[in-house]
Amino acid sequence: MKYYCMTLFPEMIEQAMNTSIIKRAMENGILDLETINIRDYTNNKHGRVDDYTYGGGAGMLMQAQPVYDAYQAVKEKMNGQTTRVIYVTPQGRPFHQQAAAELAAEEQLIFLCGHYEGIDERVLEEIVTDYYSIGDYVLTGGELPALVMMDAVARLVPGVLNNEESATTESFYDGLLEYPQYTRPEEWMGRRVPEVLLSGHHANIEKWRLEQSIERTRQRRPDLYEKKYGGEK
Ligand code: ADE
Repeated sequence: MKYYCMTLFPEMIEQAMNTSIIKRAMENGILDLETINIRDYTNNKHGRVDDYTYGGGAGMLMQAQPVYDAYQAVKEKMNGQTTRVIYVTPQGRPFHQQAAAELAAEEQLIFLCGHYEGIDERVLEEIVTDYYSIGDYVLTGGELPALVMMDAVARLVPGVLNNEESATTESFYDGLLEYPQYTRPEEWMGRRVPEVLLSGHHANIEKWRLEQSIERTRQRRPDLYEKKYGGEK
């Protein structure tokens, strides 16, 4: 998987991606990241990339020209290949695990991070294929949402996680939250690890974990519970 990330703050993207599991995957050649500093492409002699909005209103908007020229530079790097261009915005459709799985099947992805009050609509219409939001709240820029998406997608790319980190039995696998987990010691601050987990009886452990997953989902995420079991009595 190769990520291209168009941003005004490439160092923010690079620092976060140069950590832990994602860093290891990049070192192993399974993931690749190239940041494109949108400011490098402005025609403005003072390096400006933003301006006031037509029609008035608070805040500045990123202009079409530098974003479009940055995109043309990415296309050149891709030798004529095309791929999805993802703009992260609170006005996008909600990003979730299923979307991460779909995106993980792509060979490359382009992320576009906005700043200020957003980006001139005309360049979005021209280049963006997918609009995604990571939740119903507003952040100061698109870098954190792009990082969230890159991380969620990366861990589904074969070879990024090792066996112990493997993705299959975690939260949102099969629409349920993950069951509670415990490590040593057996007793901590008077709280014991549930006996069934010490029993070595695998069928009982599986049954207990599924029950815990269902109950946890019902309590904490009634919306997910309803989606999974809503049709049943
Ligand atoms: N940019 C600012 N807030 C955002 C959000 N919640 N999701 C995606 N992009 C954003």
